[in-house]
Amino acid sequence: MKIGIDKIGFATSQYVLKMKDLAEARHVDPEKYSKGLMLDAISITPITEDIVTLAATASQEILDDNDKATIDMVILATESSIDQSKAASIYVHHLLDIQPFARSIEMKEACYSATAALDYAKLHVGMHPQSKVLVIASDIARYGIASSGEPTQGAGSIAMLVKADPRILILNHDNLAQTRDIMDFWRPNYSSTPCVNGIFSTKQYLDSLMTTWQEYQLKNKVSLKDFSAFCLHIPFPKLALKGLTKIMDSSLTHEQKDKLQEAFDTSIIYSKQVGNIYTGSLYLSLLSLLENSRALKAGDKIGMFSYGSGAVSEIFSLELVPGYHNMLKENRFDSLANRKVLSVAEYEELFYEEPNLDSFGNASFKDYLSGAYCLTAINQHQRIYQKNDKS
Ligand code: HMG
Repeated sequence: MKIGIDKIGFATSQYVLKMKDLAEARHVDPEKYSKGLMLDAISITPITEDIVTLAATASQEILDDNDKATIDMVILATESSIDQSKAASIYVHHLLDIQPFARSIEMKEACYSATAALDYAKLHVGMHPQSKVLVIASDIARYGIASSGEPTQGAGSIAMLVKADPRILILNHDNLAQTRDIMDFWRPNYSSTPCVNGIFSTKQYLDSLMTTWQEYQLKNKVSLKDFSAFCLHIPFPKLALKGLTKIMDSSLTHEQKDKLQEAFDTSIIYSKQVGNIYTGSLYLSLLSLLENSRALKAGDKIGMFSYGSGAVSEIFSLELVPGYHNMLKENRFDSLANRKVLSVAEYEELFYEEPNLDSFGNASFKDYLSGAYCLTAINQHQRIYQKNDKS
C-alpha cells in the first residue's frame, strides 16, 4: 500500500520584520543577514497568535468536511508548547470540528519531532488503511532581543494530511535516524527563550548530516544521483546550503549538481521570507520546492534531512505522485508580501509581550491582526480561541 502526504497547508503570522531594518538597529552590516545567513525577513507573532492558532489556520486551508469526518489522529509537533500537560492538538481538534473518535497528542524533540510524527502516521495508516492522520508542525522561534540568534527567529505552521493513495507524495520506507546527547540548543522549563551554543550547533547540524547521510546510503544502497532534490531543515538558509554542498561529492556530474542546486534555490524561497519555524522548517522547504519548481516531475525522489537540537537527525525520502501540482496552492508568495511590516521598536513590543494576568488568572489582549483563528483572552488560566470573522 502507498501511504503519504495527500495535502499540505501553511500558515504564518500577519506581521513581518525586514532584516535590513534589524541590521540597521543592531549596527550590523545588512549583508551579514542577506548573504551571511541568506535571510530577507522573518515572521513576527503578536500575543494573540500561538502554536494553536497557527496550526488551526494551516489545517483549515486543506481540510474539507469529509476529512474532518474521517481523521482519527491529530499529532501536533512543537517545541513552543503553551501547556505542560494538555496537548495543543486537542484545541486544534476542537476548533476544526474533527469527529470525536480520534487520538490527539503533542510530540517534542526540538525541530525534529514532525518527522517522527509523519512516520507514526505512516505506521498507523499501514495498520488502518481507511484512516487519515493530521500531522501539524507548529512553532514560534523566539530568541532574546539583540542576541546572536535574534536574526534567526520566525513563526509558522505546516499541516499535512497523511493517508493511503496520497495525491502529493509517497513516504518511502527508508528512514534512518541518529541520536546524540549534546547541548547545542535547549530551553529549560523556566525560560521563555532558548540557551544556544550557536557556532557549536551549526557544526553539530553539519556533522549529523554527514554521518546520517553516510549510514543512510549504506543501508539503502543509494547515492545522491538517485535524488532529484534534497530538502534540509532550515534554521537559516545559508546553513542548509552548506549542508547540501557537503553532501554533493565529486561523483556527481556538473548537470546533476546544477539540478540539485536549482531545486535547493526553490526550496528556500519561503524560508528567506519567514525565518526559522523550527518543527515546520524542513516541511516549509518541501512546500517551497513543490510550489515553485518547474523541473520536478512525477516519480522524482526527494531526499529529506531533519535535524532537531539535542540532537536527533533523520534522513528519509519521498516520491512525487502524478498530478501532485493539482493539490498545491498558487500565489502563496502574494500572501507573504501582504504581511504588515513592523518597525524594530514595534517588533520588540509585540513579539515579547507577556499576558498581564490578574489574581484570578484572567487577561485580555489588544486587537491584533491574525489568521483564521486567534487567541482572544485568558479566563481563569484557560486559553480562549475564536474563529476570526475577518479572515
Ligand atoms: P553569528 O554571530 O551571526 O555568526 O551567529 P557569524 O559571525 O559566524 O556570521 C554568520 C555568517 O555571516 C558567517 O558566514 C559570516 O562569515 C557571515 P559563514 O562564514 O559561516 O559562511 N558574515 C557576513 N557575510 C556577508 N557580509 C558581512 C558578513 N558578516 C558576517 N558583512 C548563529 C550565527 C547561527 C550562530 C546565530 O544566528 C545563532 O546562534 N542562531 C541560533 C542557532 C541556530 O540557528 N543554529 C543552527 C544549527 S542548530 C538547528 O538547526 C536547530 C534549531 O533549529 C533549533 C531546534 O532544533 O529546535 C536552531
